[in-house]
Amino acid sequence: MNPKLIELLNSLLIQEQTSINQYRFNSEWNKVNGYNELSDMFYERYKDESKHYHHIIARILLLEGLPVIDDTGEPKIAYDVKTQLENDLEIENQIISDYNNAIHILTCGNDDIQPDNETRRILEKILRDEEEHVQEIQGNLKKIADVGIDGYLTIYGK
Ligand SMILES: [Fe+2]
Ligand SMILES: [Fe+2]
Repeated sequence: MNPKLIELLNSLLIQEQTSINQYRFNSEWNKVNGYNELSDMFYERYKDESKHYHHIIARILLLEGLPVIDDTGEPKIAYDVKTQLENDLEIENQIISDYNNAIHILTCGNDDIQPDNETRRILEKILRDEEEHVQEIQGNLKKIADVGIDGYLTIYGK
């Protein structure tokens, strides 16, 4: 077991937990406000992030590391849809940068961590999901820019 590799995976695990919490809040807030379709959209991303969490924690355990489960990061909570989407875009972009960095280390190795193809493949699969999330969120923000927030909520909210 390499503690530096576990540390790297735990940093991703915490990010996933943060995005799980953020998406769960967004889903609940939209449901309470009657925006059922938007609530479902955020819930789908919440489910994706939960799967990522599962893959990372399983990998840490398989490598006989200790997963960090008491650090949930700092989800950004907003009470309007546009800011929710902007906050989600921010965390997704950060996660993509962190996954790319981790994949680079697992491909080339560094002073502390050997190349690890199996772990790298797991991260690459998750990264593809995160890239899709960014595209979807950018699509939503473009719709808001096109029709305004009131139009967006009328068309896509209910
Ligand atoms: Fe994720
Ligand atoms: Fe994501």
